[in-house]
Amino acid sequence: MILVTGGMGYIGSHTCVELINAGFTPIILDNLCNSHKNVLERIETITGQKPTFIEGDIRDSELLNKVFSNYPIDAVIHFAGLKAVGESVQHPLRYYDNNVVGSLSLVQAMEKAGVKRLIFSSSATVYGCSSTEPITESFSTKAVNPYGQSKLILETMFTDICHADPEWQMVILRYFNPIGAHESGLIGEDPNGIPNNLLPFISQVAIGKRDKLQVFGGDYDTHDGTGVRDYIHVCDLASGHVAALNHLPYKSNCLAVNLGTGKGYSVLDVINAFEKASNKKIPYDVVERRLGDIDIYFADASLANSLLNWQAQFNIDDMCRDTWRWQQKNPNGYLG
Ligand code: NAD
Ligand code: WQD
Repeated sequence: MILVTGGMGYIGSHTCVELINAGFTPIILDNLCNSHKNVLERIETITGQKPTFIEGDIRDSELLNKVFSNYPIDAVIHFAGLKAVGESVQHPLRYYDNNVVGSLSLVQAMEKAGVKRLIFSSSATVYGCSSTEPITESFSTKAVNPYGQSKLILETMFTDICHADPEWQMVILRYFNPIGAHESGLIGEDPNGIPNNLLPFISQVAIGKRDKLQVFGGDYDTHDGTGVRDYIHVCDLASGHVAALNHLPYKSNCLAVNLGTGKGYSVLDVINAFEKASNKKIPYDVVERRLGDIDIYFADASLANSLLNWQAQFNIDDMCRDTWRWQQKNPNGYLG
């Protein structure tokens, strides 16, 4: 069994589908602070299997000890955490508590139970700077906000644990910009309130929930002046976790691996691709840069390819098509 913390969330739910399709049995631990219970039925409709679900918090050590003694868990995929950059600047304690304290309590329970295989959700945000060269895992790291700092602290903690005890097997996955949704349109990204991220915002404009998009900055040093990112389909990310899981037994070190496509697209490129996919016009205004944003970054994804035998399969048109299908089928997300 694979314990999936945060398995009811955006990336976790897609990974549960991928795990079931690959013959694994996921068991989900999630406190539902940013997800809905009906994700479980949706996973069942897609795969024919409903994962065991435990509603609870990774900071609850007693609960974790029970979970590890009640279920034969071989490995943990750890998604549970908070992820809103702006909120982390305003409420840093929430981020250090949920992400850092929560992950500490998780690995303590794992150690106690003798379960020493972990896949961790990190982020390209740990690179913290703009680069016109593809970013390799050996690039220097820098936290530019408390959210990024929480990921860096955890990467360091996991590396130290592996160095001290070579029985630990860990893969740290650094995601670039996840977008898209499962092809069924049954699971997808369901942000609360006004979306912070580009794709959920664009799709809410396309469905008529918002009037127009604000493009943050038109004077970046990029091909059209708007910010460039490496967008990756969430189903590709999900299959990256299965690849990492299959790789775990062969590696005792703590390994950091980028998951991206290796291609960068500007905000205007994404708008064009979304207009094509949805056949809707996306009205926009180019406004001031958003504080903390950088010009351009995209992955060198060759390590994932050579080591995990993984490569992204979906392109930007697929990502926009699937985001749009999810938005159309679920105009109010999981609430209908
Ligand atoms: P999400 O918010 O959709 O999913 C996270 C899940 O964790 C939610 O279901 C939430 O209820 C749960 N959770 C949060 N704190 C918890 C706690 N203390 N105990 C139990 N459950 C808890 O987010 P996501 O986009 O699926 O991201 C998953 C992971 O990937 C996060 O760690 C995030 O930092 C990381 N990540 C996300 C992105 C992105 O852009 N989505 C990019 C890079 C890394
Ligand atoms: C993408 C591009 C914006 C919204 C964030 C986190 C990062 C990671 C992924 C977790 C940028 C522009 C956006 C809008 C816009 N998450 N934009 N108008 O900022 O690259 O990364 O999510 O680990 O840590 O920082 O993603 O989708 O917010 O922005 O013009 O309304 O779209 O300026 O160029 P970002 P994003």
